[in-house]
Amino acid sequence: MTATSRAVSAEHFAYLSSRTAGDDEFLVDLKRAAAAADIPAIWISPEQASLMQILLRLHGAQEVVEVGTLAGYSAIAMARALPEAGRVRTIEVKGRHADFAEDWIGRSDVAGRIEVLRGRALDVLPGLAADSADAVFIDADKESYVGYLAESLRIVRRGGLIMVDNAFAFGRLLEEDCTDPDVEAVRVFNDHMAGVHDLQSIIVPIGDGLWVGVKL
Ligand code: DHB
Ligand code: MG
Repeated sequence: MTATSRAVSAEHFAYLSSRTAGDDEFLVDLKRAAAAADIPAIWISPEQASLMQILLRLHGAQEVVEVGTLAGYSAIAMARALPEAGRVRTIEVKGRHADFAEDWIGRSDVAGRIEVLRGRALDVLPGLAADSADAVFIDADKESYVGYLAESLRIVRRGGLIMVDNAFAFGRLLEEDCTDPDVEAVRVFNDHMAGVHDLQSIIVPIGDGLWVGVKL
């Protein structure tokens, strides 16, 4: 191993995790309720939420679009990093998940900063104006990621931030014999992303791998 490349081991991860602010009581309750409502526990980690909040704060982001609301955890985390007038528009196709998220967003400290847009993201995104967002976060069905990225590149302004979850494909990215369609879709997306020249981007090895890109 060279000095420029050090693997992030499970031990490193536990170390950094124990030194990163965790969930507050509200988010702990949200996760417990989501699990009880049979919503899959595939939300981003607190460390990833913290990194995304830092990026949004540094960026001075006001307008954020999210693809894939799930339980509302990441939308609430991102909204907390925005100024009072900021807004997260978060898209969710599953009615049951959108209902849950709206309920919990409504009870959160950032209720006024989040709108849940219902429907397929590939139908909803074309209705959002070009250059209308400072940041987009993609965290939804993997086979549509290339399409979500194309729309995100239109919606985000120049200098804006594009973040994409699961670059490590649920930890299975490098399992050579794995042909799971979601894992394959992530591989296709990662290769595509690496070739998008109007984005400066990198995979940050936090959570399940977070693509962070800036639109040039
Ligand atoms: C899984 C994790 C995710 O973050 C996601 O967006 C989808 C699926 C998973 O672990 O299965
Ligand atoms: Mg994800």
